[in-house]
Amino acid sequence: DKGNHRHFMEKEIYEQPEVISHALSRYMDFASNTISDNINAIDFKATSSLAISACGTAYLAGLVGKYWFERYARLPVEIDVASEFRYREMPLSPSQAALFISQSGETADTLASLRYCKDKGLKIGAVVNVRESTIARESDAIFPIMAGPEIGVASTKAFTCQLAVLAALALGAGKARGTISAEQERELVRHLAEMPRIMSRVLNLIQPQMESLSRELSKCRDVLYLGRGTSFPLAMEGALKLKEISYIHAEGYAAGELKHGPIALIDENMPVIVIAPFDRFFDKTVSNMQEVAARGGRIIFITDEAGAAASKLPTMATIVLPDVNEIIAPMIFSLPIQLLAYHTAVFMGTDVDQPRNLAKSVTVE
Ligand code: M6R
Repeated sequence: DKGNHRHFMEKEIYEQPEVISHALSRYMDFASNTISDNINAIDFKATSSLAISACGTAYLAGLVGKYWFERYARLPVEIDVASEFRYREMPLSPSQAALFISQSGETADTLASLRYCKDKGLKIGAVVNVRESTIARESDAIFPIMAGPEIGVASTKAFTCQLAVLAALALGAGKARGTISAEQERELVRHLAEMPRIMSRVLNLIQPQMESLSRELSKCRDVLYLGRGTSFPLAMEGALKLKEISYIHAEGYAAGELKHGPIALIDENMPVIVIAPFDRFFDKTVSNMQEVAARGGRIIFITDEAGAAASKLPTMATIVLPDVNEIIAPMIFSLPIQLLAYHTAVFMGTDVDQPRNLAKSVTVE
């Protein structure tokens, strides 16, 4: 049932504040602002490193997770798309743990990677939406993302719920490994607790602007997304979302890679979507944006209030989100990305929930 939404994708985008609060409350205790003990189903303290494997959007969530595990838990992460991971013949040892991320829990390559790791004696954790799935069944520890059924082929609420669970796991791992203090833990959990409310506010705030910008995007043949740090996987997620439902060619790049190739594509016909919260990477990303502006590129700047105040570069549009803590920025910045893709596809009249050639769950290699 789509309720009063035109598509499941739209409904699922607007469900995010609610489902994310379910995901958070499963792994956090908001009375004490601490991470719950259920994340200890994986013994992160005894783990030498973490191998993450997944496909598509789930892989991009894992890539954000990598930044968090390394930063907050000082836990080295090896991550790859499952179709490569399973054949890489990576040296693995039982001192490592492996994490598989999958909405459906049935993705063939992800399952094959899981079996490969299991065979090598690694402890297996699964971040899944469907708890009765094969991936869930074959894992030692299940971390449900609590998103509820996701019908739209383009993953939206599963992505942000995967991020919420990965944030909890990374902070829990940091706590177990003694790399974050009790005070930091309380502070970060407090920020995460505010996320559902901020998400609702942002969805309402940006909707009209996303709709009018999408009219412009729908005229383009190519779109480039740029970001640094955790905004780099978001750039790739933005490009994936746009291409899969609007069929516009889009690419996501690490902002610093711009001058190593993609800058050759910049002209007034290709919009560049720059994802840049006012974090420690901001100035670097703005200098890349400057390179785009200098070549006549049209910029759609997705930033926050502090970022908008700090950059004076001319843009085609600036989307101003509220200033939020770094730990929740990837989830909040997912919202304009999802809405831009959604409205662009609606303008173009594509089959938003069932894009051509795609299946919700890829159970063959
Ligand atoms: O069910 P899974 O999370 O394992 O699926 C992985 C990908 O097939 C999936 O995320 C795909 O990339 C989506 N269509 C992206 O929106």
